[in-house]
Amino acid sequence: DWLMKDYIEAAVEEIREQVGDDHVLLGLSGGVDSSVAAALIHKAIGDQLTCVFVDHGMMRKDERKQVVHTFKDQFGIHLIPVDASDLFLGRLAGVDDPEQKRKIIGRTFVEVFESESKKLNNVTYLAQGTLYPDVIESAVAVGPAQTIKSHHNVGGLPEKMHLKLLEPLRDLFKDEVRQVGRLLGLPEVMVERHPFPGPGLAVRILGEITREGVAVLQEADAIFIDMLHQWGLYNEVSQAFAVLLPVRTVGIMGDERTYEQVCAIRSVSTTDFMTADWSRLPYDFLGEVSSRIVNEVKGINRVVFDITSKPPGTIEWE
Ligand code: XMP
Repeated sequence: DWLMKDYIEAAVEEIREQVGDDHVLLGLSGGVDSSVAAALIHKAIGDQLTCVFVDHGMMRKDERKQVVHTFKDQFGIHLIPVDASDLFLGRLAGVDDPEQKRKIIGRTFVEVFESESKKLNNVTYLAQGTLYPDVIESAVAVGPAQTIKSHHNVGGLPEKMHLKLLEPLRDLFKDEVRQVGRLLGLPEVMVERHPFPGPGLAVRILGEITREGVAVLQEADAIFIDMLHQWGLYNEVSQAFAVLLPVRTVGIMGDERTYEQVCAIRSVSTTDFMTADWSRLPYDFLGEVSSRIVNEVKGINRVVFDITSKPPGTIEWE
């Protein structure tokens, strides 16, 4: 793809010129946008880039490990992984309101990120993986839809931290960003990854969040995603995940009665995430996912499939 090759070359030149001898800080989430931004900026300025990955304890299974492996071990990027799970989960104990969860997580994220960045000297730039559609969205009033969920982002951070912004992807659409990521050598699974909300599994564990709940959901979600890859369905849908319900139902395992939690699986197709249709996944596929989850995940004995489109549903359950 010549266009994107040219884009990379031009962006590298531009980043070098803009940054000079300064240092850049980037909040790496493991998502496509921040990952591609990290790889691109690293190509331009190498060790002048430092990435901070805040693990709030509600990431997908093995997510921190994968991020460290890709960026630190493979790319040799200066990466600081922060395990802040005790702090986050402690503050979330007893909280079951979705908006409250988001607020606590957003606030705590900023706090942790800031305190990490204070340990670094002479940082003058904050890099963000802002894309063209994000630029448009913040320039246009989106109306009431915007306030249905208080989306977690780090807006306001740069001003607060007195940093200049570096946004090397702000002319690109998502598919172009993916192409840039591929050309920079990021692994395909990372480049093709579905979006993952900032608050992570916190909004997919309905009601109160516990460490046990996180562990149970991580396992169920990993099975669902793994099966989507195996069946060649992952790239056919826009976003797919498991949700842990605060409901117990009776089941039978061997000749034992069980009384465990319900897991919902959700998959949608959409272009803009403002509206979405539920995915017509094959029955045989759903059946296999269900039996694998019930057999392999301790704590779940029933699986249901969400057949609600957006609107009237939202993509996430909280
Ligand atoms: P909803 O549930 O509003 O989701 O239909 C639309 C898209 O936004 C993501 N989402 C979030 N992303 N912080 C985020 O960064 C959030 O609090 C949040 N809530 C929803 C959701 O995963 C979907 O892609």
